Amino acid sequence: MFRRLRSVAGLLVLALIVLSACGGQTTNGTGGAASEEPPVVNVYTARHYDADDALFADFTKETGIEVKVLKGKAEELIERIAREGQATEADLFITVDGGVLNQAKERGILQPITDEAILQNVPEALRDRENAWVGLATRARVIVYAKDRIKPEDLSTYEALTDPKWRGKVLVRSSTSLYNQSLLASFIALHGREWAKSWAQGIVNNFARPPEGSDRDQMKAIAAGVGDVALVNTYYVGLLLTSEDPKEREVGEKMGVFFPDQDGDGTHINVSGVGLVKGAKHPENAKKLIAYLTSAAVQEKLSKANFEYPVNPDARWAEDLEAWGRFKAQSLDFADLGRYNQEAVKIFTEVGWK
Ligand SMILES: [Fe+2]
Repeated sequence: MFRRLRSVAGLLVLALIVLSACGGQTTNGTGGAASEEPPVVNVYTARHYDADDALFADFTKETGIEVKVLKGKAEELIERIAREGQATEADLFITVDGGVLNQAKERGILQPITDEAILQNVPEALRDRENAWVGLATRARVIVYAKDRIKPEDLSTYEALTDPKWRGKVLVRSSTSLYNQSLLASFIALHGREWAKSWAQGIVNNFARPPEGSDRDQMKAIAAGVGDVALVNTYYVGLLLTSEDPKEREVGEKMGVFFPDQDGDGTHINVSGVGLVKGAKHPENAKKLIAYLTSAAVQEKLSKANFEYPVNPDARWAEDLEAWGRFKAQSLDFADLGRYNQEAVKIFTEVGWK
């Protein structure tokens, strides 16, 4: 834990040095024409996937525009950009979770994206109403199950997992995870607080063990026989299947993927997105990078490397995603995930989902 914190802190310091070192030349471009922008774009991102770094490197190779990345926690990055105001070095803000993207919008750190080239890449449902941000990828929070002892016919809805027949069989990570908070927030938005609370209570009643570890760890626990089903994000199944560690690949092979609520509201999805920062010093480069990341070809690369669903409808899905099948997704205003976040956190406390 501490080692991880330390390495994150180290990255932040490193990124800060890099950013401040280029501060002089980037601020010169403020009033100039697009062509006068120095060939650089500064990205503040809360996404933690290797796939993103590879795409940034490809972009630099194709355009000669260097992508300088500052990684951090979404809330801290938002506050930092707000504090820096017009002086900020950030051109783009990237994060997972539609609720947090909306929070960035409401904090006033983003400017609308008006480029047709970008908007054509991303359907309306996967961008902010005023285009304060546009989606980069989506993921589904599904039920995975032990293929050797559970049949897909045994599964149906998120609610059905609260049935006493699953007592001692359900695995899921801690409620401190935004993935779970947004899942519960979606239920508050769709069915109201009471429904959401009794669902959370029902899952707690059926816990195979007190929540611990990551989504990947829940699947490892299924493979070890600790429980039979788990709630996880789809891409983690793909990442297990393609892991360099043969033991992880073995775990992945044992998992079945089930999309719940197909006869109802659909499976819970969440969106990763990008916003153009107010006061961006390299807006033309920034827009080029958004157009690049949302283009069909690059969306296919992202889907293949990180097992997320493309937002661009012209992009083909990665093979594993196709194998799991097309599915009906919740159609929610992603802002609702943020709107009901505090309520979700409260419910988790009330039902003892630690
Ligand atoms: Fe993740």
